[in-house]
Amino acid sequence: MAILRVSVMRLVVAAMAVAAGVLFFSGAGEARVLLTLDDFGAVGDGIANDTQAFLDAWNAACASTEPAVLAVPAGKTYQIWPVRLAGPCKKKLKLMISGTIAAPASPDEWAGRDPTKWLFVFRVDDLSVSGGGTIDGMGAEWWARSCKRKKTKPCSTVSAPKALQFEECRRVSVQGITMQNGPQFHLMFTRCTDVKASFLRVVAPESSPNTDGIHLNDTTHAQIMDNLISTGDDCVSMVGNCSDVRVKDISCGPGHGISIGSLGKNRTTDRIENVRVDTCLLTNTTNGVRIKSWQGGMGYAHNLRFEGIVMKNVSNPIIIDQYYCDQPTPCANQTQAVEVRKIEFAGIRGTSATEQAIKLACSDAVPCRDLELRNVNLTMVGGGAASAFCHRASGKAAGAVVPASCLAKAPHRMLGDATPAARVGS
Ligand SMILES: *[C@@H]1O[C@H](CO)[C@@H](O)[C@H](O)[C@H]1NC(C)=O
Ligand SMILES: *[C@@H]1O[C@H](CO)[C@@H](O)[C@H](O)[C@H]1NC(C)=O
Ligand SMILES: *[C@@H]1O[C@H](CO)[C@@H](O)[C@H](O)[C@H]1NC(C)=O
Ligand SMILES: *[C@@H]1O[C@H](CO)[C@@H](O)[C@H](O)[C@H]1NC(C)=O
Ligand SMILES: *[C@@H]1O[C@H](CO)[C@@H](O)[C@H](O)[C@H]1NC(C)=O
Ligand SMILES: *[C@@H]1O[C@H](CO)[C@@H](O)[C@H](O)[C@H]1NC(C)=O
Ligand SMILES: *[C@@H]1O[C@H](CO)[C@@H](O)[C@H](O)[C@H]1NC(C)=O
Ligand SMILES: *[C@@H]1O[C@H](CO)[C@@H](O)[C@H](O)[C@H]1NC(C)=O
Repeated sequence: MAILRVSVMRLVVAAMAVAAGVLFFSGAGEARVLLTLDDFGAVGDGIANDTQAFLDAWNAACASTEPAVLAVPAGKTYQIWPVRLAGPCKKKLKLMISGTIAAPASPDEWAGRDPTKWLFVFRVDDLSVSGGGTIDGMGAEWWARSCKRKKTKPCSTVSAPKALQFEECRRVSVQGITMQNGPQFHLMFTRCTDVKASFLRVVAPESSPNTDGIHLNDTTHAQIMDNLISTGDDCVSMVGNCSDVRVKDISCGPGHGISIGSLGKNRTTDRIENVRVDTCLLTNTTNGVRIKSWQGGMGYAHNLRFEGIVMKNVSNPIIIDQYYCDQPTPCANQTQAVEVRKIEFAGIRGTSATEQAIKLACSDAVPCRDLELRNVNLTMVGGGAASAFCHRASGKAAGAVVPASCLAKAPHRMLGDATPAARVGS
């Protein structure tokens, strides 16, 4: 009875909001409607369950025949259980997060639900998220239980929820908010096109496992710019088939740096091309700019440019690793690999935390070709010279390259090639 009354109340409140409480305003010739979570009965004290109010508000905004702005009011914290926000929506939608959206702290709240999802946005186009507020994944208990961190049993190998996840989207932007303490990845786009992630602050402890900042999977035309990312894993990473990606003006660290891959896991075909990463400052990261692939994969990483990057105390400032293996048992050597070709590292300077500042460990089966090192200057953090390591990597060096380039001038043979030239130009 009480429950019924509450939901009737909520409906009345919702109806009132739509009928009367709504604000219309025009700008650039379009009327817009402003809805707030509170109109739908949300409490915002950080304790109450505001999930249904959030869903009701989303549904109203998504069904609006005018472009809608859905506000998460400042100064309040709304606790939201895992939600699926599905499109398509009728018109453009803005989610203006000025307060805090927080996840339940206990992983037990995911019992019976998909443990990999929290805020899951599916098939929504023309959405912008902004507002200066915070999305808090409350990941501490997930990290504490993870086998990646807790080496003694009982520990959990279940992959934890990604905080904000978009799947199959177009023209989505996430800008000017804080994303913190994600149980796993903070912001992820899968099978999306025309996306933007900028003016973001993404923070989680250095020790938190798998807390990548921004992750792309099968996504094209992406801009990741003007962000501060400081987490326990990659600041930016991309897998699957991604192209036309610009990563620019990023302050990264601590964390694992900026990563293309891991590609080719479980013999998959991944194609990454036309990626430009420039003007990034990496501090105290375990890698700088990295391309990593599993043996046995297929596809390629082509036309990637890393330019204008400053490293401060970075463990592997420039690294290509075609022998990536992030599993407890050693990975078997295989004769297939993701092809790495036409990769430029230009204007990269600063300090390496390890002696080997450049590591280009390419595949025996499919060596790396057309690599370029141009104006690179990396020294060891305490002073002292760093070194470069190459295995089956060819290309050219231009300008001053410190440590000296180890690239071979002539391409290495592919496994099974009659002559090295056989595959050139293929
Ligand atoms: C919070 O509300 C949502 C949506 O109604 C529900 O799925 C979830 O189970 C609720 N959580 C608790 C602890 O009641
Ligand atoms: C990428 O997306 C595909 C589905 O499109 C999925 O099978 C795969 O597991 C995803 N990979 C990662 C690393 O998220
Ligand atoms: C990437 O593209 C290739 C070639 O079109 C395709 O075979 C593969 O399945 C795609 N990968 C994903 C994860 O969609
Ligand atoms: C890769 O394959 C192994 C064994 O076939 C399987 O246990 C594992 O879950 C797969 N990983 C992914 C990401 O598909
Ligand atoms: C890098 O690490 C050093 C040593 O732990 C620390 O003093 C410094 O503040 C860190 N810098 C950043 C930007 O985190
Ligand atoms: C460099 O990073 C290491 C950890 O990789 C840390 O122990 C050391 O204090 C850092 N040094 C500086 C100068 O920041
Ligand atoms: C793979 O090959 C490398 C180099 O040839 C070798 O050192 C390593 O032991 C091999 N790994 C396995 C699992 O066979
Ligand atoms: C490389 O950087 C070091 C340290 O900043 C500097 O002393 C040196 O002159 C630079 N070398 C080149 C070739 O730019």
